[in-house]
Amino acid sequence: MSYETLKLERNNGILEITVNRPDKLNALNATVLSELKKVLEEVKADGFETKGIILTGEGDKAFIAGADIKGMSEMTPDQAESFGALGQDVSRLFETVPVPVIACVNGFALGGGCEMAMSCDFIYATSNALFGQPEVNLALIPGFGGTQRLRRYVGVARSKEIIYTGRNIKIDEAEKIGLVTRVFNSKDEMMSAARETLGVVASKSPLIIAKCKEVINAGESADIDQGLSIEKSGFKSVFSTQDTKEGLAAFLEKRKPNFTGK
Ligand code: COA
Repeated sequence: MSYETLKLERNNGILEITVNRPDKLNALNATVLSELKKVLEEVKADGFETKGIILTGEGDKAFIAGADIKGMSEMTPDQAESFGALGQDVSRLFETVPVPVIACVNGFALGGGCEMAMSCDFIYATSNALFGQPEVNLALIPGFGGTQRLRRYVGVARSKEIIYTGRNIKIDEAEKIGLVTRVFNSKDEMMSAARETLGVVASKSPLIIAKCKEVINAGESADIDQGLSIEKSGFKSVFSTQDTKEGLAAFLEKRKPNFTGK
C-alpha cells in the first residue's frame, strides 16, 4: 500500500511514520489526516504485529507546522467541524493504539503538530525543535485536542498562557515544563534513541505494555480512587494471561522469559 503524503518503514515490528509534505512543512491537510487514520486503524487491528510506532516529519526543518492553513481558509463552519473531527480522531488513535508511540520532533511542531506530538505517549525532540499553539494568531482556537492535552503536560495556568499568547516554546523551555521527555543534538541521534527505546519495550509482553498504556490513560480523567480501582482491575486481569505466568515462572527458574502475547 503506498500513501501520497506518508512514508512508512517497518523494522523488527517498529513502524516509522514520516509525514511527507516538506514543501509545506508537513502541514496536516485532510489527505494526511485520512492516511494517518487508515494506518493507525490497521495497527489497532493487527494483533501486535506492530510493536511500536515512531511519528516524525520529513526533513530537518519541520515535524508538522500545523493544520493546513490554505485548506482552512476555504472552509465553512460545517467543513471545519468535519476537519476538526478528523484531526481529533487521528490524535485519539495515537493515544489509544495499544502499542507505544514516540513523537520524534525535528523542527516546527506548531498547532496541529504540537497536538499530534502530545497525543503520542511521549516526545523526543531535536535541539532546534519549536513548539507552540499559535492558533490565536489566525483567530482560531486549537482544534485537534490542544485545549485538552496541553494542560495535561504543563498544567492549566501554563497552558492558558501558551494558548492565549500563541507564543513559540523553544526546546529549553519545552524540556523544563515537561512537554519533551528527551532532547538530542541531531535527528539521526533522536531516531536511533527512539528505535532503541521501542526495541526495549518490544522485548516485553505486548499485552502487558498495552495494559500499562490503557490503565495510565484511563487514570488521566479519573480521581485517585477511580484511578486506583482501574489499576486494580488491570492488575487482576493480567493474572489470566500466559505471559504473566511466564514472567513470574522465568524469574523463579532463573531464566529469560519467553513472551508470546497471550
Ligand atoms: N499550513 C499550510 N502551509 C504551511 C503551513 C501551514 N500550517 N506552515 C507552513 N506552510 C507552507 C508555507 O505557506 C510555505 O508554502 P509556499 O512555499 O507555497 O509559500 C511553506 O510551507 C514554507 O513555509 P514558510 O512560511 O515559507 O517557511 P518559514 O521558514 O519562513 O516559516 C513557519 C516557518 C513555521 C514559522 C511559518 O511557515 C508559519 O508560521 N507557519 C504557520 C504555523 C501555524 O500557524 N500553524 C498553526 C496552524 S493552525
